[in-house]
Amino acid sequence: MKNPSLKNKRVLLGVSGGIAAYKSVELVRRLKDSGASVSVVMTEAARRFVTPLTFEAVSRSKVHSSLFDEPLVHIALPSEADLLIVAPATANTIGKFSNGIADDLLSACFLSCAGKTLIAPAMNWRMYENPAVRENLARLASRGVLQVGPEPGSLACGEEGPGRMAEVQEIIEAARAALADKDLRGERVVVTAGPTREYLDPVRFLSNRSSGKMGYALARAARDRGAGVTLISGPTALPRPSGMDFVAVEDSAGMLEAVQREVSQGATVLIMAAAVADYAPAERSAGKREKSRDLSLELKAAPDIISTVAKASRRPFIIGFAAETGGNTGRAAEKMKKKGMDMIVFNDVTEPGAGFDTDTNKVVILDGNRETHVGLMPKYDTAHAILDRLFEMKT
Ligand code: C5P
Repeated sequence: MKNPSLKNKRVLLGVSGGIAAYKSVELVRRLKDSGASVSVVMTEAARRFVTPLTFEAVSRSKVHSSLFDEPLVHIALPSEADLLIVAPATANTIGKFSNGIADDLLSACFLSCAGKTLIAPAMNWRMYENPAVRENLARLASRGVLQVGPEPGSLACGEEGPGRMAEVQEIIEAARAALADKDLRGERVVVTAGPTREYLDPVRFLSNRSSGKMGYALARAARDRGAGVTLISGPTALPRPSGMDFVAVEDSAGMLEAVQREVSQGATVLIMAAAVADYAPAERSAGKREKSRDLSLELKAAPDIISTVAKASRRPFIIGFAAETGGNTGRAAEKMKKKGMDMIVFNDVTEPGAGFDTDTNKVVILDGNRETHVGLMPKYDTAHAILDRLFEMKT
């Protein structure tokens, strides 16, 4: 499986002097749990927030801080690393990186690092919005330095704004993405996710239990493998993923319109992970309906997005989903043929860990030639298994 993993990767973690340094202790633990080995370099200021002993205990290796403790340590450490992560990256450290200043061990390691570098900026929002910092970040980005966060939220200074260091989970995902094989570069992938809402009137709608987690995981996995991604999402409670276009829709008609627009603009792959309504109220009243005793609703079939796109002359590779109650894949195989899909992902929603709103899934991928059984795993990993099969079929 091409699923980017941190197993056996060597990470050099630079910690600079911001309050978020305490979160990097957890980052080291999570990197180690993922199978990576971690060496830590701390700046002088970072040592005022967290002691080197803490990082030594969690990384199980000596923490480096000085250019002068060992000869050539600023060359040796980066040369042994697959990835340099700097978290938190303060305004000062970002400024040094951007200007080629090498007056301490971390900034010297940055300059001598030939591999990938990922920075997680963290600072007060006023500092983050200062043009000097923005220019430094833009310059680093143009030189290929990867960046994760910062996020908006409450800051240590008591203010609200952009400047919080990205969550540890996000830094881990960004690290995996940084090391991923970019085998989907050149593809333009459209992913639909979440439920639709079919309105009866301005306040009531018919919907379903879809959380959007599988679709969002697919969008993130495709992005991490180098594809250009558009995520078309029904209403979900999930954070909007970075590094992709995002289109918010509500009902099935809106989703169809958004998908058709993307297809006409050259999408090469359509992944329909959304739980699109099969029926919509025949009429949507402009005002709130009067409450009556009993109510019979007339429903009409919602537009079938896959069938519509499959008939287009320049159609993308189409992947659909079949959520079933029971383990028989026969109906899914028929659905794939009937709707003109190239691949269908079957899952039995009655299986533990594979139902609605779970963080894991267990699926069978059908593509006309082969059945690929993918065991229970996090949805991000399931997403990679689906993209692995897509890659095989497209090449
Ligand atoms: O036939 P069924 O609704 O079970 O098929 C599910 C697949 O079809 C999913 O991939 C879903 O996104 C897609 N679908 C669609 N348009 C609809 C309903 C479902 O494209 N109106």
